[in-house]
Amino acid sequence: MIIAIDGPAASGKGSIARRLGAHFGYPHLDTGALYRAVGLAMLQENQNLDDSDAAAKVAENLPLELLDAAEIRTAEVGEAASKVAVHAAVRKALRGFQERFAGQSPGAVLDGRDIGTVICPHADVKLFITATVEIRATRRHKELLARGERIIYARVLADLKVRDQRDATRKEGPLRPADDAFQIDTSNLDIEAAVAAALTFITSQRT
Ligand code: DC
Repeated sequence: MIIAIDGPAASGKGSIARRLGAHFGYPHLDTGALYRAVGLAMLQENQNLDDSDAAAKVAENLPLELLDAAEIRTAEVGEAASKVAVHAAVRKALRGFQERFAGQSPGAVLDGRDIGTVICPHADVKLFITATVEIRATRRHKELLARGERIIYARVLADLKVRDQRDATRKEGPLRPADDAFQIDTSNLDIEAAVAAALTFITSQRT
């Protein structure tokens, strides 16, 4: 069973994906980490994030150990990830890895922006996780402070708005719910309630 989870930054999709992976015993891929790793490598190499060819080259030779690096979780790398994610050649370079991950037996959970629409259009379960931008900014701000980053709430909010706009309006694989996605608004839900809503939906799909 493939579970495809999409949604904007800090919507809670990553936490839900991890919990569902643990529940079903499936591996989980945070596909945002792939774009973050490309963004980080580009920053480290002092490359122009708008340079599609350079970004594609990095994506084609992505050092997979970067996926677990703490440095990919900074606000700066999140912004860089969103910028390199605009390039069709980057998305193409990262596609095969995601498709192979999704093809694992007996199942896999992937979260990102275009999983239900582009990477796994035939996923058994598609979820689209949302929350108001203010609530997402509050969550992301807390996370960044906990990681030791010095950043104010207003900056996080402004950055998320820019990122949402860029992710939703790009030509290739824009952030949008698949037509058959089940939407969960986590604005007023804690993680337990959000996972419970997802599991209720998954159970209803399988019976
Ligand atoms: O989920 P995240 O915040 O870690 O993702 C960082 C950026 O990566 C996001 O702003 C857009 C890009 N991304 C994407 O374009 N497609 C995906 N499937 C996942 C992430």
